[in-house]
Amino acid sequence: MTALILYSGRDGQTLAIASYIARKLQDRLTCEVIDLLNADGINLSKYQQVMVGASVRYGRFDSGLDKFVKHRAEQLNNIPSAFFAVNLTARKPEQCSPESNVYTRKFLIASPWRPKQCMVFAGALRYPRYRWFDRIMIQLIMYITGGETDARKEVEYTDWHQVERFAHDFSQI
Ligand SMILES: Cc1cc2nc3c(=O)[nH]c(=O)nc-3n(C[C@H](O)[C@H](O)[C@H](O)COP(=O)(O)O)c2cc1C
Repeated sequence: MTALILYSGRDGQTLAIASYIARKLQDRLTCEVIDLLNADGINLSKYQQVMVGASVRYGRFDSGLDKFVKHRAEQLNNIPSAFFAVNLTARKPEQCSPESNVYTRKFLIASPWRPKQCMVFAGALRYPRYRWFDRIMIQLIMYITGGETDARKEVEYTDWHQVERFAHDFSQI
């Protein structure tokens, strides 16, 4: 059995989660991890399962996610599939489910794809790696939402046990 894990991210956390899931599944499934940006011509019928993971920037998933899902919805709906979202809002327990995480809820409502399994993971905050403008904006958002504002810090909020459980459930769908 071969599974495809597509990821859409900018700073590496979505890729890290996708790679972690692939490692956790390696005894049960062969996993190919591919950047969604390179997935335009991909032949989905090669895969028995598909997972898509995407992070949020400035309130949105990358537009490539919407395009991919729109073009491939029919195929995706005929393969056991899963979706995970990555963002910092999800560091708060009351905003970390597909229903309570606003980006994920909106995406799923608007999407013609109906993934069998959905999850939201808290991402990472990596101030030293951000451009000046992004750093100021994230600091502002963190100040407003009561998060870390020290621009020297890198904080990983991802709960790797939650990621492991998600990988396990994916192997059972
Ligand atoms: C410029 C920028 C904008 C972001 N905007 C949001 C946002 O609107 N809401 C949110 O919850 N998280 C936001 N985040 C947090 C990211 O979703 C989080 O850092 C995630 O781990 C990034 O994943 P990636 O490394 O795969 O790109 C933002 C991060 C950056 C750097």
